[in-house]
Amino acid sequence: MKKHPVELTVNGRPVSMTVEPRQSLADCLRGELGLTGSHLGCEHGVCGACTIIVDGDPVRGCLMLGVQAEGCDVQTIEGVSPRVGLSEIQAALREFHGLQCGFCTPGMVVVLHHLFSGNPQPSEAEIREAISGQLCRCTGYQGIVNAAKAVAARHQPKTV
Ligand code: FES
Ligand code: FES
Repeated sequence: MKKHPVELTVNGRPVSMTVEPRQSLADCLRGELGLTGSHLGCEHGVCGACTIIVDGDPVRGCLMLGVQAEGCDVQTIEGVSPRVGLSEIQAALREFHGLQCGFCTPGMVVVLHHLFSGNPQPSEAEIREAISGQLCRCTGYQGIVNAAKAVAARHQPKTV
């Protein structure tokens, strides 16, 4: 099948890839750019494991085609994680047992990163709303919510 050139920005860097029209953006990021942190579970837009941020909004990477990403600004789990160590959200997920197998975790981290970027002190309802499109088969969600609540509490202004 004929391949098409696509130019986009990924994690702050301009990149080009040459992709088939049938390839999802998640497949392109993983297969063409080697960014394998985004997981593919259902590939039908249900589980959220493939969630990335496109032009400022969380998007299912499996439901967007690579060719649709021309000119887009994409952030993946690699872009919201430090090169060394853990982000505040990742550290809290570890601390509060917000993961077991870890398959859903990249998508969870991406949506929580998006939430905290716009709202450093979200309520529990806002946290639950933010993760409501992410499926986790292991944790029962409570550890994830507790981790996010702990991050929100750490963002409270200090009183003297
Ligand atoms: S792999 Fe994209 S939503 Fe499940
Ligand atoms: S930690 Fe296993 S699916 Fe969420």
